[in-house]
Amino acid sequence: MELIITKDIDELSRQVAVWITAYIEKVLKSQPRFTIVLSGGSTPQKLYRLLASTGFLKNIEWSRLHFFWGDERYVPFTDQRNNAKMGFDNLLDHVPVIKEHIHMIRTDIEPSASATEYESILKNYFPGNNHTFDLVLLGLGDNAHTLSLFPGYEVVNEKEHWVSSFYLEEQNMVRITLTPPVVNAAARVAFLVSGNDKARALHQVLTAKYDTNRYPAQIIQPVNDELYWWVDEAAAAELE
Ligand code: 6PG
Repeated sequence: MELIITKDIDELSRQVAVWITAYIEKVLKSQPRFTIVLSGGSTPQKLYRLLASTGFLKNIEWSRLHFFWGDERYVPFTDQRNNAKMGFDNLLDHVPVIKEHIHMIRTDIEPSASATEYESILKNYFPGNNHTFDLVLLGLGDNAHTLSLFPGYEVVNEKEHWVSSFYLEEQNMVRITLTPPVVNAAARVAFLVSGNDKARALHQVLTAKYDTNRYPAQIIQPVNDELYWWVDEAAAAELE
């Protein structure tokens, strides 16, 4: 596990953009495609806009990239809370990706059917590969959730399915989420954490006794140990 602390969200976004660009280039030297999982929420928005900006746009072979999402709020694509919409608004509408390479979690069919469909897409996409995604981008909630793995929900400890749907009481919303098995089989996982409101959760996840019901993000332990925590100073405030 590697912890990188940057001054602020702007510096975090810039350093991660450089880091991702270099990683994509390295991976595409040895395989035909690069598969990334986009995180929802607000933290990655600056990063996405940066990757679509002139400074980075030309350095990435967009046509060889494939996009998935880590989770989705079960709201229409047109809803501002929809993670896929956020990904398009800040990145995918501004870069020359191949639309067939973008795999959204559907919110126009029943949640359980959408989860089953997404899981079969993933199972066909990764036919027995030695790893799943090349890179998974994750956020951290101030209650130590990541993806839609919220404290106290059984989905946190899902061992078999790769995608799950459930009703999230505290947000009165259905969520569809990747589960630990498919994320922990990724080649590389990167958390992006910014802001003082995340300081307590970050400290708990990184230092508290392992307790995934209280600190779900602790369940993210990539099998090949390629786990990166990109955090800014405000989020790192409670770390020694
Ligand atoms: C979501 C995300 C979620 C997010 C964290 C942090 O759908 O909300 O997948 O896991 O990454 O809640 O969100 P912020 O970046 O907005 O703080």
